[in-house]
Amino acid sequence: KIIILDFGSQTTQLIARRIRELNTYCEIVPYNKFPQDDTTVKGVILSGSPFSVNDKDAFYTDLNDIRKKYPLLGICYGAQLLAHTSNGKVEKGDSREYGRAHLVTINNDLLFDGIKEGSQVWMSHGDTITVLPADFKIIASTEDVQAAAYKIDGEQTWGVQFHPEVYHSTDGTRILSNFLNICGCKKDWTPASFVESTVAELKAQLGDDKVILALSGGVDSSVTAVLLNQAIGKNLTCVFVDHGLLRKGEFERVLKDYEHLGLNVIGVDAKERFYKALAGVSDPEQKRKIIGKGFIDVFDEEAHKLKDIKWLGQGTIYPDIIESLSITGTVIKSHHNVGGLPEKMNLKLVEPLRLLFKDEVRRVGLEMNMMEHLIKRHPFPGPGLGIRVLGDITPEKVEILQNADDIYMRMLNEYHLYDQVWQAGAILLPVKSVGVMGDERTYEFTIALRAVTSTDAMTADWAHLPYEFLAKVSNEIINKVKGVNRVVYDISSKPPATIEWE
Ligand code: XMP
Repeated sequence: KIIILDFGSQTTQLIARRIRELNTYCEIVPYNKFPQDDTTVKGVILSGSPFSVNDKDAFYTDLNDIRKKYPLLGICYGAQLLAHTSNGKVEKGDSREYGRAHLVTINNDLLFDGIKEGSQVWMSHGDTITVLPADFKIIASTEDVQAAAYKIDGEQTWGVQFHPEVYHSTDGTRILSNFLNICGCKKDWTPASFVESTVAELKAQLGDDKVILALSGGVDSSVTAVLLNQAIGKNLTCVFVDHGLLRKGEFERVLKDYEHLGLNVIGVDAKERFYKALAGVSDPEQKRKIIGKGFIDVFDEEAHKLKDIKWLGQGTIYPDIIESLSITGTVIKSHHNVGGLPEKMNLKLVEPLRLLFKDEVRRVGLEMNMMEHLIKRHPFPGPGLGIRVLGDITPEKVEILQNADDIYMRMLNEYHLYDQVWQAGAILLPVKSVGVMGDERTYEFTIALRAVTSTDAMTADWAHLPYEFLAKVSNEIINKVKGVNRVVYDISSKPPATIEWE
């Protein structure tokens, strides 16, 4: 595996993704937490950083234990840190560069194998290495930056001032791939090998122990369940709770899918209980709390009906873990569907997807022959339609929203637009307005349609769905859903809006 030491750059995750796209397993660890005892490490990458190496609070770590022991690649700040700590000089130069640049000279070096002069690279740095230590040999330059890339004599250590991990560095992947070759990585880490090794590890870790898992219908929990099922079979019990705030027909549909996958699932109809607890509550955070707590209670009750449960399975994925490791403390938002469960139930946690990115989870699911519609499903919030019925929730309002949402989802599929958006859904606004149907005046609810494009839900743009499509959906909803006489489309991006309305 490759270790990426994270000095807080926004592109650290991208480095990890690129390495994994090259079928090589890697892990991100905080800059000062290098796993000294890990015998499987083949190479180390130092990330960029929001700091300058000259800053008083800059992240610093002693690289002497790593240099010469492993092949090492410093990126941007990583490259500057190596120079800085080897008696070089890093300064706020005149030649600061942002954006595109081109490598005008490239010397013969393994790291640049197969890369020609003129190759575009992406720069983003205010500091420049102005004095290069004597044993640092320049291997590539841009017009403005002499030391765009260097190698240290007598050791397998390289530094690049640009960011090979970003898309705009056209040969970036090639450079990273060359580095992996230098490290002797076999590049054989694939979804199939992940499934094989994970199932074996789960068998060893769990033995004959019993595991309980909450299913949500979403990709992560479903793939977790199938993996666990392959490892321990009947010792896995899954619980799928209908809180009455799922999409129309979803509970029955997904339950069938799960049974088809051979999972041992208990479906719990808890609709009434949730509606009762939510009656009259309109504050979004309050609603989230009630739904979250109700969920834990139902799950806990089910768990108590079973005997000898030792483990709680969870569909935690890598971005959640990275956030909680965050060295800069800039955790933006974390939504946990089953937060609080492990503490309450005193169970050990098993999280087989904890080191995978979302797209990798999807590939693992497909590898295990799970249905495409289950794998490609849009994200759906834990509190479900509870935060899409704005204001207080009644079963009648939920039904109106379910019907409108169902039409919207069906038509997105029919028009082959479903896979083009990250997430979509209908929202029931607490607004009534006047309309006319036949000869009659109506006074009914408004439905807002939301669809966004995104890669990680942190930022999002409203999806530019075709007008003709929106016209058809609007018509269909107003004609078929009793209680609605107006449909609007949300054209706000995130930020400053959020994806959900509550
Ligand atoms: P926002 O509205 O913050 O949503 O832009 C970002 C992503 O998170 C989902 N979301 C939630 N998921 N519990 C969840 O499990 C929640 O309380 C929750 N709130 C928002 C939202 O659907 C989007 O994918």
